Amino acid sequence: MDRRILDKIEKVVGKDGYSTDSAVLYIYGFDASIYHHTPDVVIQPRTTEQVSEIMKIANEEKIPVTPRGGGTGLCGSAVPLKGGIVLAMQKMNKIKNISVADLWVDVEVGVVYDDLNKELSKYGYFFPPSPGSAEACMIGGMVANNASGMRAVKYGATRDFVLGLTFVKADGEIVRAGTRTIKDSSGYQLARLMCGSEGQLGVITEVTLKLTTKPKKSASCICAFNDVASAGKCITDLIAKPLIPASCELMDSLAVFAVNKARGNPLPDCDSLIIVEVDGETDEVVERDLRTVAEVAEANGAVSVKPSHDKTEIARWTDARKSVMTSLSVLKPGHVSVSLADDMGVPVSKVPEAVEAFAQIAKKHNVTVATYGHASDGNLHTKMMLDPYSRDDWERGIAAVTEIFEKCIELGGTVSGEHGIGIAKALDFIKERGTNLKTYKEIKRAMDPNNILNPGKTFDYEGDPLSGLRYPCRECQ
Ligand code: LAC
Ligand code: ZN
Repeated sequence: MDRRILDKIEKVVGKDGYSTDSAVLYIYGFDASIYHHTPDVVIQPRTTEQVSEIMKIANEEKIPVTPRGGGTGLCGSAVPLKGGIVLAMQKMNKIKNISVADLWVDVEVGVVYDDLNKELSKYGYFFPPSPGSAEACMIGGMVANNASGMRAVKYGATRDFVLGLTFVKADGEIVRAGTRTIKDSSGYQLARLMCGSEGQLGVITEVTLKLTTKPKKSASCICAFNDVASAGKCITDLIAKPLIPASCELMDSLAVFAVNKARGNPLPDCDSLIIVEVDGETDEVVERDLRTVAEVAEANGAVSVKPSHDKTEIARWTDARKSVMTSLSVLKPGHVSVSLADDMGVPVSKVPEAVEAFAQIAKKHNVTVATYGHASDGNLHTKMMLDPYSRDDWERGIAAVTEIFEKCIELGGTVSGEHGIGIAKALDFIKERGTNLKTYKEIKRAMDPNNILNPGKTFDYEGDPLSGLRYPCRECQ
């Protein structure tokens, strides 16, 4: 990058607040997706005012800016597709104020999810969405993607906790949106607009989150089935009881097989399983719900049902579930599990149909796909096994992904339940939200007329999904 521009940046953040070192640029070209693009400079601001000054420079010089949190996103939202500036927010990591009486906490966006919950637990409260990357992901990235995870079914996704936030517009204007009150019917919900905006409408710098009490008791039950349809029916029957579990994770046969092979059989050997967590204020409530889970599973032909209060055993199940993505890589030498397809959402009643359709589509394209996920809110994950050196494998993978997403849209679902769109799902998202695209573009133009904020992604993506892969596939370049 031009020294003249670097001098301006240095005036704002100091010598140690930015880097053009090639190793640093390389590292900040990744998130956890399949893509990589190298930025021209990485800037680590410490205050909202510094972000504002940087945005003024970027807007004047028309330099692309990609905001970045923990870099744990799976779709390329934090990959600097058009180069320019990566605005790495990890130095803005203060929990600024917790007002228990008013039920809110103010944080800077670089606070890590688990660190926030450790602090909130001192007061008996928590921020529940529970993303898979809890130990590393940051609150700003969670808001920008409207991220969530295992506990969203009972407690909601990130957007449901955002009372207000501060963001910096493309021209450097600092905007405080929303409130610090539990209710707010005062005008457009600008804070909501920023949820899921993936760094395209502004740089979020501070967030006010609503507090929720952390249940005192919980327990889990693992239920194994001979077919995924029975597992799916068990979930819909549970909800109809009515019982909303704290979490309910589904794994298909391939996911179970891979985890058992990679990690020494932590799970029952079966075609599909669900791990159901129930929680509440008293042992009686938890016992009652645990009994209901067992009864409903047995009524749906479960081949084994194992309730547990043992924290070590439950942690082993949770670890097993969280390890699906990495475990898959043991299935086939030379193949790795890649984040193609990802985190589709379908109506809960359509989960079995979706899982069966994914298996058929995988067979048709001769690719290996494991399906698992947060089935009681209809949010599934598919991971694909590929030889990353083979263009043919990638092409068959992309063909399968395209059909998987078409199926989800046909079932009344969405291409993203919790990870966002970024680069990886842009073309599928454009199909899903066709009738929204004009409005998205109007909002984007109004807030970022020079199109410098995370450009070229989501509705604006044009390109070959095989370009910019971080894998060493020479045939793909
Ligand atoms: C999970 C992440 C991938 O649920 O969302 O494991
Ligand atoms: Zn997930």
